[in-house]
Amino acid sequence: MYNCYCLFISLFYYISLVHADEDNWIFPDGFLIGAATSAYQIEGAWNTSDKGESVWDRFTHADSGRIEDGSNGDVAADSFHRYKEDVQLLKQLGVDFYRFSLSWTRILPTGYANVISKVGIKYYHDLLDELEKNDIKPFVTIYHWDHPQLFQDMGGWASEAMVDLFGDYARVVFKEYGHRVKFFFTINEPDVICETGYYLGIKAPGLQLGRYGQYVCAHNLLKAHARAYHIYNEEFRAQQKGKIGIVIHSHYYYSKYGNDTVSEDVAWQFAFGKYAHPIFSKEGDYPDSIKRRIAENSKFEGLLRSRLPTFSREWVDYIKGTSDVLGFNHYNSYNVEPILGSNKTIYENDDGLVYTHDPKWPKTPTSWLRIVPSGLLDNLRKIKDNYGDIEVYITENGIADTGELTDTQRMGYLYSYMKAMLTAIKTFGCNVKAYTVWSLLDNFEWQNGYKERYGLFHVDFTDENRTRSPKKSVPWLTNVIKTRNLQPPMDGP
Ligand SMILES: *[C@@H]1O[C@H](CO)[C@@H](O)[C@H](O)[C@H]1NC(C)=O
Ligand SMILES: *[C@@H]1O[C@H](CO)[C@@H](O)[C@H](O)[C@H]1NC(C)=O
Ligand SMILES: *[C@@H]1O[C@H](CO)[C@@H](O)[C@H](O)[C@H]1NC(C)=O
Ligand SMILES: *[C@@H]1O[C@H](CO)[C@@H](O)[C@H](O)[C@H]1NC(C)=O
Repeated sequence: MYNCYCLFISLFYYISLVHADEDNWIFPDGFLIGAATSAYQIEGAWNTSDKGESVWDRFTHADSGRIEDGSNGDVAADSFHRYKEDVQLLKQLGVDFYRFSLSWTRILPTGYANVISKVGIKYYHDLLDELEKNDIKPFVTIYHWDHPQLFQDMGGWASEAMVDLFGDYARVVFKEYGHRVKFFFTINEPDVICETGYYLGIKAPGLQLGRYGQYVCAHNLLKAHARAYHIYNEEFRAQQKGKIGIVIHSHYYYSKYGNDTVSEDVAWQFAFGKYAHPIFSKEGDYPDSIKRRIAENSKFEGLLRSRLPTFSREWVDYIKGTSDVLGFNHYNSYNVEPILGSNKTIYENDDGLVYTHDPKWPKTPTSWLRIVPSGLLDNLRKIKDNYGDIEVYITENGIADTGELTDTQRMGYLYSYMKAMLTAIKTFGCNVKAYTVWSLLDNFEWQNGYKERYGLFHVDFTDENRTRSPKKSVPWLTNVIKTRNLQPPMDGP
């Protein structure tokens, strides 16, 4: 009798635990789920009608061996002609929203705001019409890396002239589309632009300008973002009533040694805080930790001033608070450990850190991308710790395959990362409002060409029709979106 009662109690307890556990994987009311792409990666039609040349057109056409498979985005997924198919894919998934970007040189062929392309403007209106018909909200990224080549010839993001030029472009976007777009993102992943485009030179415009060039780029991007925000705020918000923010990405960084209490934060501040702190913190400006390291290093190397540019008080105030929401992209984590400076410097690469992967973290086809779901949870908690309860929209998350339709690894990845996100929301009170899979469909993956495929839908790039086919994750994800319940994929994570 006693045993039986006990069994009954434990069974009851077990059932309620399982039940509680199930409840944890239900998405909060009003939570938005979507999929993302960007203009250069999917549109093609690079020289249709009056479209101007972008840095990505120039970079890929240079045929300099920097694109792994020698390919380019001239046709890509041909979404310029096939956007209606794309919207049907979104419809099939049942997403709440579609995050896509606008091509600056399709809308403004010369880059300047005085010549507006009728064809370019119409293309995005047609796409918006199609989304509206299918009840899918547009999340519009104004700039996802494809600025006009002419402006690059003037220095690109190494030049402060871009602040006004970007503001003028953003104003055209708000004027044309703001009455029907309620979510704008100004700039996608500023750190990728500056690190890979102006420091490493592996993405357009392919420059290696040293750390100073990288920081000047960051400085101008922050100013340009703030300019666009203020234009929206002052000239459009009252009528259009939308939200506007920036998209910043971060890996998570784990100190390799338990006795190292600083590296985790230093790495995070260098990658993420550099952009987030000036916008989202109470005091504004760059984080102290990175200002200090860069200044010490610059002095040691005999520079007359820090190679991290300084914001005037006016600019600190102008940039502070310029995002209604944080767009957050996340994929991967690193271990970090301090590295001894050489005799030329104190902190190697200014941050003084070495980045490695734990060999236990599962690999994916992308060399830098390992599967570490806790990295998303820890980022969301750190964002809350640093900036309070700001609204966070996860604007990208996903992994690549190499062309197969049976994307078992992707299902496991998305499942485990969404689980980490729901834990952040339900257990730690993180204010996450949306989740976005990168990407809707296979596309031009920058320097990796068409070798790494991030799509939920496969695209046959050898077929003139660029035929789209659902991968195995599509029915699973469709069901998650429909039921608002994160069920594990059949094959398990
Ligand atoms: C557009 O670019 C393609 C190469 O992608 C080229 O074959 C074609 O001639 C160009 N069209 C125009 C109108 O310049
Ligand atoms: C921390 O631990 C590592 C590895 O055990 C060791 O090499 C290092 O000297 C320690 N550092 C400090 C500051 O104790
Ligand atoms: C700095 O280190 C390099 C390489 O280790 C060495 O060749 C050089 O002599 C050193 N310079 C000074 C000033 O110590
Ligand atoms: C592409 O689509 C067109 C129009 O539907 C069709 O006539 C053509 O056969 C298709 N091409 C291929 C390779 O499937």
